[in-house]
Amino acid sequence: MSPTATVTIRRDLSYGTIRPHLYGHFAEHLGRCIYEGVWVGEKSSIPNENGIRKDTVAALGRIDAPVIRWPGGCFADAYHWEDGIGERARRPRRPNHWWSGEDTNAFGTHEFLEACERIGAQPYICLNVGSGTPQEALNWLEYCNYAGDTEYTRRRAANGRPKPWHVKYWAVGNESWGCGGSFTATDYAKEFRRFATYLKRLDPGAELILCGHTARDWNPELLEELRDHLHLVNHLSIHRYTSAGDGCTFTVDEYWRLMSGVRVMEQDILAAAGLLRAYTRDHRFIGVSLDEWGAWHPQATVETGLSQPNTLRDALFAASSLNMFNRHADVLSMTNIAQTINVLQCLIVTDGPDIALTPTYYVYELYRPHMGANAVVADVDASAVTVMVGHEQRALPILDASASKDTEGSLTVSVVNRHPSDAVEARLRLDDGQVVGAEATQMTGPAANAENAAGKEPLIRPTNCTIEVRGGEIAHLFPPLSVTVMRLRT
Ligand code: AHR
Repeated sequence: MSPTATVTIRRDLSYGTIRPHLYGHFAEHLGRCIYEGVWVGEKSSIPNENGIRKDTVAALGRIDAPVIRWPGGCFADAYHWEDGIGERARRPRRPNHWWSGEDTNAFGTHEFLEACERIGAQPYICLNVGSGTPQEALNWLEYCNYAGDTEYTRRRAANGRPKPWHVKYWAVGNESWGCGGSFTATDYAKEFRRFATYLKRLDPGAELILCGHTARDWNPELLEELRDHLHLVNHLSIHRYTSAGDGCTFTVDEYWRLMSGVRVMEQDILAAAGLLRAYTRDHRFIGVSLDEWGAWHPQATVETGLSQPNTLRDALFAASSLNMFNRHADVLSMTNIAQTINVLQCLIVTDGPDIALTPTYYVYELYRPHMGANAVVADVDASAVTVMVGHEQRALPILDASASKDTEGSLTVSVVNRHPSDAVEARLRLDDGQVVGAEATQMTGPAANAENAAGKEPLIRPTNCTIEVRGGEIAHLFPPLSVTVMRLRT
């Protein structure tokens, strides 16, 4: 007999608006993410516009990618932005300190911001604190956002962009406790204060991201040191990667360990949010920005350019993560999956002129109706497996769901059956009314380690599915390894 579950939607109990940026992306100068993934150069036979690949950019546009973080990652704290502007042939070639090889600097500020404009995404720039100066950061902000007549705005115009771009998001360093300069929390806090003072003075509308950490001591020490300067902070970033066995050949136990990574991220988010609440009693909002997250498999090494398999298991992990982000819409301001193209848990894989949309890409496509909607409570009563979260045993329900209500009152419910082999017979009901009909799209596949291949018809992609409504409720058999997104008529 199939396991059973009940999902009860409480549409009057809200977690708040799901900022579209909770579905954001991250692209670093690493492996084939930028070069090949976004940039192919004007002379490439791969269709491009001003050197920017058309197919990948169009695919990101189709999922309404809201925000892209760039140029790193670890790369950011060794990046000097002026290397990447002006005539391309004259740009210096530099070692890529963290990810090996060299960077031609062919892809710089103008190219990134043009790609964002084409996609329709907001840019998020990560500044260099580790090997840079406040002045260098300030010059970059001036170059991008200042409207007056200065040396930098003249250079911007001479390089083809008279109007400012008004980049809103600026991280003051990346992983400043590690590759971003090996600072102590207190020393980094002092750097943040210096950088932020000048950045905010030049552009008070710029939103600054403070580099947080999931290690126990960093955030408390950082916030204590900055307690009188929190008006300079708009977001606190944390990063969390999840590993559990091989990317393709994993045991059932490893399968569930990846799924339980969602719980670990949830703990990270709640810990950061709880601390922020304690430090912002004046109710000023500082959002938690999970600006790097995803599955990191052993195949992803510096030697492979952090490329790894991207399977249906990863997509289910992404879908459960987005469900969890929806439930924490009140405290999360942004998340950025690592990394958009060809690197780690990517949405797109390129192979010369061909591309594959990974199962994770299709999760973002399926979940689009949640973006900007109001997250409401979806109570799940389902059988659970026991997983370890840190040193504690926790119950992880086999079925996972989240729900949202848009401005017209339409309900979207996303349901993940995480079980690798069992279908779940579930009832889905409203606590205050009747469901009269539903349209649904579902994605599943032949095996947890199934993948899509570049240049071939996707093996795993969403298809329409029929949903039965009986007595004002939905009764549906959710196949194993499936993500289903329903639009309910009530
Ligand atoms: O995404 C790969 C790397 O992981 C990033 O450069 C760094 O910030 C993190 O440690």
